[in-house]
Parts: sequence; C-alpha cells; structure tokens
Amino acid sequence: MNKDFLKYQAQTTPHPLGLEVIDAKGSYIYTSDGQKHLDFVAGVSATSLGHCHPAVITAIKKQADKYLHVMVYGEYAQAPAVDFSKLLAKSLPDPLNKVYLVNSGTEAIEGALKLARRATGRTEILAAKNAYHGNTMGSLSLMNFEERQKPFRPLIGDVDFIEFNNDDNLNRITKKTAAVILETIQGGAGFIEPQNDYLKKVKDHCEAVGALLILDEIQPGFGRTGKLFGFENYDVVPDIMAIGKGMGGGLPVGAFVASEKLMDLLADHPKMGHITTFGGNPLVAAACHATLKTILETELMAETLEKEKCFRELLIHPLITAVRGKGLMLAAIVESEDIANQVIINCKEKGLILFWLLFEKTAIRITPPLTISIEEIEEGCGIIIDVLNKIKNKA
Ligand SMILES: Cc1ncc(COP(=O)(O)O)c(C=O)c1O
Repeated sequence: MNKDFLKYQAQTTPHPLGLEVIDAKGSYIYTSDGQKHLDFVAGVSATSLGHCHPAVITAIKKQADKYLHVMVYGEYAQAPAVDFSKLLAKSLPDPLNKVYLVNSGTEAIEGALKLARRATGRTEILAAKNAYHGNTMGSLSLMNFEERQKPFRPLIGDVDFIEFNNDDNLNRITKKTAAVILETIQGGAGFIEPQNDYLKKVKDHCEAVGALLILDEIQPGFGRTGKLFGFENYDVVPDIMAIGKGMGGGLPVGAFVASEKLMDLLADHPKMGHITTFGGNPLVAAACHATLKTILETELMAETLEKEKCFRELLIHPLITAVRGKGLMLAAIVESEDIANQVIINCKEKGLILFWLLFEKTAIRITPPLTISIEEIEEGCGIIIDVLNKIKNKA
C-alpha cells in the first residue's frame, strides 16, 4: 500500500512516516505489519476522544441511516447541525452565541478574517510571529515564515506581525486594525502559553480602538487544556473564535463563533458573505454533537489536568530541558533538533507515535487522546525514557 500511497497520493514531505493503517481503536493504531502503536499524537490533536469512540460511531451510524448531504450550508434546518450549534452556544460565555459551521480549521480562520473586515470596515490584520493558522491563502498570509510564504505570493494584503507575549507591541493595535488574531496557546512555536494577562491586555487594547480579537482555538479547544476552550484559562473572551480539529471526533470540520450581531453581518450587504457547500454536513455535525456531549457529560476535562501531572512526573530526564504546554497539549523540549528527531523515529520503531512541531525543532509533540489511560501514559513515557537513555549512553 505504501508504494501506491507514494505514487498516487500527493505528498507533503519527501519522507512521510508511512504507517500502513488497518484499524484504530481507543489509544492504539494497528498496522498491516501486525504492529500495535500507542498514539501520543491523536491525528495532531484531532481525535480527542480516541479512535472510533463508541458515542461518535453510534451517532454517525444513526445519522447515516437517515440522510447525508441535502443542501448547501444555511438553507435547510437539519437537526445534527442545529443541535450541535445550540449545545455549543449554550456552553460558551456571552457574546459567543452564533456558530458558522465550515469544513476545516483553515476555512474557519478565513471566515473569521472576513467577518472581522466586514464588521469593522477596516483591513489591517495583526497576527503573531511564529503563529500557525492553516494553509489556505488567508491563513498562510498570517504566517511570518518567509520560506513558506515566498513561493505563493502575493498573499492577502495589510497583514502585520506582533510578538506573542510582548506588551511593548500592544500599541501597534490602532484605529486602523480590523482584528488581532492569536492562537490562545501558540502551537507550532513550541506550546507557548500567554503570560502575565497578555490576552486580557490585547483584548483591552482592541476594545479601546474598536478592533476585534480573534482567538484560534483549533488546537486547544474541546477540552484539551482542561477547560472546554483554552481562553477560559486566561479570563478573556474573544470577539470571534475559530475551532476545528478535536471538535469532530475524527471527522473533518471547522467553525467560527461570534455574537449574533456580528455573525448576522455575513447574511447581508453582500448576501452570502461566506458560503460553503458542505458546512454543517449532517454526518459530521452528528459526530460533533456526540463529541461535545461526551466531553461535557464525563470527567474528561478534569482528568486532563491529572494526566498532565502524570506526564510531567514521568518525563524527567537529563536530556529533557522542559515540558511546555497545558493539559494534554504538551511538548517535551530536548537539547537539540537531532535528539528530537532520534526520539520521534526510535519511539516509532518501539510502537509509540510522537510527532514534530512546525517551528520549534527541539520539541516532541505529546497530544494524546483525552481518553488515554494512566497505564497508557506510563507505557508511552517508559518508551520515551528508554530511548533517551540509549541516546545519552551513546553520546
Ligand atoms: C492552531 C491551528 N490553527 C489552524 C489550523 C488549521 O486547521 P486545518 O488543518 O484543519 O485547516 C491548525 C492545524 O494544525 C492549527 O493547529
């Protein structure tokens, strides 16, 4: 299968990991060579309830027996999308009470940017250095990484960059600014948390000049940091929130959420300010609803913080210089890029799946399903420590 995968499917890197997946349940992925792999990555923070969670599978099967796609987003009332949007809106603080369902994280960002420009009549977008918001043209414009942007220029205009956690940059938010867009916790940069009320200060500056704050919750959202959304840890509420990844229980999805007053602007002047064929797809929305209900009705969020503690206690080693992040959005930082590469590759050989971060090359991504057990955490951390010991003994 790998040969055909490389031949017929477009590749994103010259050396994909290339596991030949035949099955996945809970915290494990099973491959065609008979191996079982403990998954510390969860499809890059996406399968938050583990692989094939029974509540998600049941909801998908039930909906598949009723109807699939019947109409473009926004025309027909369909129970899965309505029920999910209502439950989500009721779980959010004011004024986040209206949900626009789309197909991916990056489309959620595109929608959020369009809404901010439409609402303010301004064009300037301020993003953070080392941020990642997705890969379509708008989202790519928010990534100040010359090597990745250059071949695709011209990107969207009037985007500028501030430094995350740097109060001295806050005066860059002016009456020209439509929106400041930030990841609540910076992912690709190395799982950097906001410090010293940074997000509150950004929001205050935005309010003072009539700019909007967009928070990208695509990775931290849906319980990964111990709260339903990451911003709840930092005493701030964004004007617009972008979500995706863990929202769909393993199906592809995104959404942006704002106040009714803001969101209604997309329906007029011009009409159809954002449209999408498959947004709110009934099968996907049924999976989202089952996922959200499960997160809200179980102890998963509280357990996430216990599990973080467990990781922090077990990931102590002379080659690990820090464990960054919050909840089950963690990164073990090692002394060099070479060590990070060796750990990720050698752990894969021993049946533990880890992954890289986009910009911070000394980081090892640890974003397992929220449903992972303490025994599985112990098993995986044991493999990491073994591999690190071997690297250290060789040096
Ligand atoms: C913080 C953040 N924003 C946006 C995205 C883009 O989401 P998607 O890949 O679903 O388009 C990602 C994906 O990694 C992400 O981590």
